[in-house]
Amino acid sequence: MKISSARFIISNTDIRKCPKPVLPEYAFIGRSNVGKSSLINMLTGQRDLAKTSAKPGKTQLINHFLINEKWYLVDLPGYGYAKVSKEKSALFEKFIADYLTTRTNLLCVFVLVDARLPLQQIDREFFEWCAKKDIPFSIIFTKIDKLKKQELENNLAAFETQMLRFWEEMPATFLTSSEKKLGRDEVLSFIEETNKIFRIV
Ligand code: GTP
Ligand code: MG
Repeated sequence: MKISSARFIISNTDIRKCPKPVLPEYAFIGRSNVGKSSLINMLTGQRDLAKTSAKPGKTQLINHFLINEKWYLVDLPGYGYAKVSKEKSALFEKFIADYLTTRTNLLCVFVLVDARLPLQQIDREFFEWCAKKDIPFSIIFTKIDKLKKQELENNLAAFETQMLRFWEEMPATFLTSSEKKLGRDEVLSFIEETNKIFRIV
């Protein structure tokens, strides 16, 4: 899919202020610093559309971006960043849970995981939470530029083995590097296909 336009619409923690749920929507979540905002910039081809940082905890709000005037990409705050979450929800803040459970136009949550790491408990808990809430999700492995081909293959095999202890099958997975612009076509094709099943409810 060609991206002809990508623009910021609104940031907030109040789901009532999100855009009307009349277009297909995809949200990016995952541990702080995993590369959610960078991936949005890579996919849209705009370096500074979503704010990124080498320090975890950069994205703090629900950020809507309108793509091709036809669908939304949503950048969410990360989870698992100790400094933010102490007295708040164990997994993530309530407004994120509200967003994920009530957004009727959300077709898929992309859960980003660092390709260098084995399955993390917090990600496993998030997958289970999604399943319990009937929220469809896919996995995007990030930062694959940081691994040699063989290391990547080994990590993916180990990750899959871990997942299949808890799941009957793997969800859709994507291999990406925002640094090297890898995985862009695969993610955008998936979105293009998924857009076709969108119905306003
Ligand atoms: P929070 O908003 O804090 O939750 O983080 P985030 O998940 O949005 O991560 P962000 O996109 O801000 O990136 C975090 C750091 O990882 C930055 O220093 C990025 O440059 C770096 N990074 C992101 N993607 C890649 C990648 O594909 N390869 C490499 N090498 N670095 C990356
Ligand atoms: Mg971010």
